[in-house]
Amino acid sequence: MSVLKLRGFEIHKGFLDLKEQTVLLEAVRKIAKFAPVFSPMTPYGKPMSVKMTSAGMFGWYSDAQGYEYRRVHPNGMTWPAIPAEVLNIWKIVSGVEREPECCLVNFYDQNAKMGLHQDRDEANFDFPVVSVSLGDEGLLRVGGTERGGKTDSVWLQSGDVVVMGGEARLAYHGVDRIRFGSSSLLAKSGRINLTLRVVN
Ligand code: SIN
Ligand code: MN
Repeated sequence: MSVLKLRGFEIHKGFLDLKEQTVLLEAVRKIAKFAPVFSPMTPYGKPMSVKMTSAGMFGWYSDAQGYEYRRVHPNGMTWPAIPAEVLNIWKIVSGVEREPECCLVNFYDQNAKMGLHQDRDEANFDFPVVSVSLGDEGLLRVGGTERGGKTDSVWLQSGDVVVMGGEARLAYHGVDRIRFGSSSLLAKSGRINLTLRVVN
């Protein structure tokens, strides 16, 4: 394991070993069984290429009206609990006492990507956002806190954990593409990213 810094993002390379990744994948499957993934509509009227669901007290939701955290899945049910293994990662790397209230689960299929954005739907930016990558490699792009600035990119691999906090809490970031089939963790390939957030 090693820790890299990219524009204030702390990247814990190889934080999870293969066994831990497999256990986590099983936990994510359980979340998706209770709270099926869906393609949120962007406020611009196009569905996102990334499919999503959530665990925790709040789930992230987007539609024509904008972005917000909601207490229920679009099917009306409350979100499943955040798995203990996921909370444990947060405990180790976040540096804060409070527990996350949302674990957003992103599924990237072959052509999915996520445009540059800030995570700013949370009430308090003193808490970091922690991201966990599973499956195929994804190219993370990180910029500054202003749109249109210089950016740098890094390939995230299965088992990598990123802490987006401090000065970089509001840094623009996105995923340009994935290397489909680069990992054998998921039977049908693809990438899963979990992001943990304190919402209120
Ligand atoms: C996100 O910004 O919500 C996801 C980042 C990632 O997929 O690595
Ligand atoms: Mn984000």
